[in-house]
Amino acid sequence: MSDALNYLLKARPEAMGHYFRFLKDAGSKLDPKTRSLISVITKVHSQTERGLLQYVKRALGDGASAEEILDALLMAFPALGLSKIVWAVDVLLASGLPEFSLDAVGPAAWHEVGALEALAAPMARIECEGRTLLVYRADGACTVYDSHCPHQRTPIPLEALKGGQLRCPKHGWTFDIATGACTDKGDRPLRRYPSKIEGGILYAEW
Ligand code: FES
Repeated sequence: MSDALNYLLKARPEAMGHYFRFLKDAGSKLDPKTRSLISVITKVHSQTERGLLQYVKRALGDGASAEEILDALLMAFPALGLSKIVWAVDVLLASGLPEFSLDAVGPAAWHEVGALEALAAPMARIECEGRTLLVYRADGACTVYDSHCPHQRTPIPLEALKGGQLRCPKHGWTFDIATGACTDKGDRPLRRYPSKIEGGILYAEW
């Protein structure tokens, strides 16, 4: 939240409380991904860089792909105009988010993660073509996750895994590592990539 909003919240708590309750209730019938995409558009409209990145990360955490975020921007063209859309894309390209690198443009492709026998069990943290992955191994199968927490994209370290539960160090969102489901504090799962094993090599798709 901006310093100005924090100030107003302290100076006029009742009025601002109504405002925030209004914002919360206004989106109560929408699914989280749609809510996040609409919030992305509002941040582009007001050209708020920090807010844009906050809601783009939230939209990704809610399951939106980079393609869907771009679609949302382009569909809002009549309201935003080309210059604000170009501004937003500049911000995204400079953000370092792997979903918005020039290399990521184009149809999804399989990427070699590594040889199965070289992957630490039960979980490995792997750098793969600009992304950091968590690979969970159990019963001969592998599950590949984005290593970033879906809440605010904090990188989750290997040490966060205890007894099958992965706990984000920042605010404590906790995930069942076997399924990626959020089991405590939060409301969104880990981002999971399709994967396959061929000839003893693990591949992930994005
Ligand atoms: S960033 Fe992970 S719980 Fe908030």
